[in-house]
Amino acid sequence: MKIFSALWLAFGLFYLWGCDDSQKESSDLEGDSDTVETEESATEWLDPYANQPWRPRYHFTPSENWMNDPNGLVFYKGEYHLFYQYAPEGFVLSPLHWGHAVSTDLVHWEHLPVAIYPDDVLGNAYSGSAVVDRTNSSGLCLEDEGETSCLVALFTHSGGEDGLQKQSLAYSNDRGRTWEMYENNPVLGPDPRWADFRDPKVLWDDANSRWIMVLAAGNQLLFYESSNLLEWELASEFTRDSSDDGGAWECPELFEIPLENRENESRWLLEIDWTTSTGGIGSGGRYFVGDFTDGSFYSETSVKSVLRVDYGSDFYAAQSFFGLEDGRRIWLAWMNNWQYALSVSTKPWQGAMSLPRTIALRTDDKGLYRVVQNPVEQLRSLRGNPLIQLENLVVEGEYRLPETSYCTSCEIAVELQPDSASDCFLSVFVGGQEHTDIGYDAGNGTLYFDRRESGTVDFSPHFSRRQEVDYPLDNGTLRLNVFLDQSTVEVFAGDGETVLSFLVFPDSDSRGIVWQANGGACTVETMAIYPMESIWKIPAP
Ligand code: FRU
Repeated sequence: MKIFSALWLAFGLFYLWGCDDSQKESSDLEGDSDTVETEESATEWLDPYANQPWRPRYHFTPSENWMNDPNGLVFYKGEYHLFYQYAPEGFVLSPLHWGHAVSTDLVHWEHLPVAIYPDDVLGNAYSGSAVVDRTNSSGLCLEDEGETSCLVALFTHSGGEDGLQKQSLAYSNDRGRTWEMYENNPVLGPDPRWADFRDPKVLWDDANSRWIMVLAAGNQLLFYESSNLLEWELASEFTRDSSDDGGAWECPELFEIPLENRENESRWLLEIDWTTSTGGIGSGGRYFVGDFTDGSFYSETSVKSVLRVDYGSDFYAAQSFFGLEDGRRIWLAWMNNWQYALSVSTKPWQGAMSLPRTIALRTDDKGLYRVVQNPVEQLRSLRGNPLIQLENLVVEGEYRLPETSYCTSCEIAVELQPDSASDCFLSVFVGGQEHTDIGYDAGNGTLYFDRRESGTVDFSPHFSRRQEVDYPLDNGTLRLNVFLDQSTVEVFAGDGETVLSFLVFPDSDSRGIVWQANGGACTVETMAIYPMESIWKIPAP
């Protein structure tokens, strides 16, 4: 590793509180009803996963074995449900089940038993969604305390005796704790025309009082309608062109969302995921913005201009929660990429979810639509007191932060002026030969992430990479919120209009944090590092 030398011209204001992650910032707790109670500090808490290398501390992971897509995200009777593609028998892709966890605050999760099992005849339980059937439109819900509603999941059965993909239904009358299979499954398909016919996303179309299902079918999306969730009629198709390079579309998402900067206007956002067949970035998501009427989606954005959901490599199969009562739209995604997911080796678990993100839609100054994503506010409850706070640090060459500010599960908030530097970057997980770089290339006006020397990278020829995105700076200041969590990094730029999410596998000793400027000096106007508390806490014995 290079010897880091610092040019420390301005002054730093240090709050050296040590590395005690358990202290909380009381000001951040105000007005947040979903936060952890402060009396907890009287108890000693342990993180059961603390000694597992690369295990994220404040991102959802299964307790053990393989996980991929989030499924069936739904809020019901005070609980957020997270189901997920789960292979409880190991690090293999099959047989696939729906794993299950619940949360009351979107931050702390409780692992629950497997919800949906594969079926010998119908096949593996692939991805899908869940809704609250509030009016018992399906006739499957039982009365409970004067209300007849239940959770209904629509998902793909894949393989089985006919080897095909078809959509099945399961329902729960005990707040998701146990699930029953609908007796006449499948409810849709199979259709021999499509080998890829999967990942139903179901939503409620308020304007027309009916259910809508969006399904990925080979090279297109199919939209279906239903009055009862059991019988589905094809309403329309939405076809891709060749702009996204190969692989089948997967895991569609569709919802209406207010347009932030135009009063009383809203649009429909259609999101899909795919894996390029020719290498490149591998798996990723893109979105279209438009209108959804009478069962058809009309895109205002060209199919040729690919609007990416996330400019990193590891944000796939995003799904939003059904049933949020306060109008927020929140999604999360699997932090991985099919190019190398099966080669990742983090034992005893494999697979992490992104932070849950609030989504907004706005138009930029060129009138182009931009999805804006930010971590849900409740995550602030995990912030400890800052390990360091700096102002007006002028970086020329290298500046290594003091050891007391090192962290591997933390939030780093930065405001940066590139000034005369052609390249100004923050290295995290620094140690030995390892470093993960998040930087601004002023010459090209790009924000970049470089994990080529981030640690273990050689498990796949596709993992080692540097990715960049155009990011013109209007007033010269770049604002970044970077969330590190052992093996995950999520970078939110500006107001959250550009996000880059990546996996990294550094050595556990690689904890350093270093600024570097090349070709001139840059100014770190402000920087604060907050340790993030683990969400996996059990009382000490
Ligand atoms: C996306 C996906 C889905 C499928 C699931 C299988 O990552 O390929 O299309 O339903 O994973 O686990």
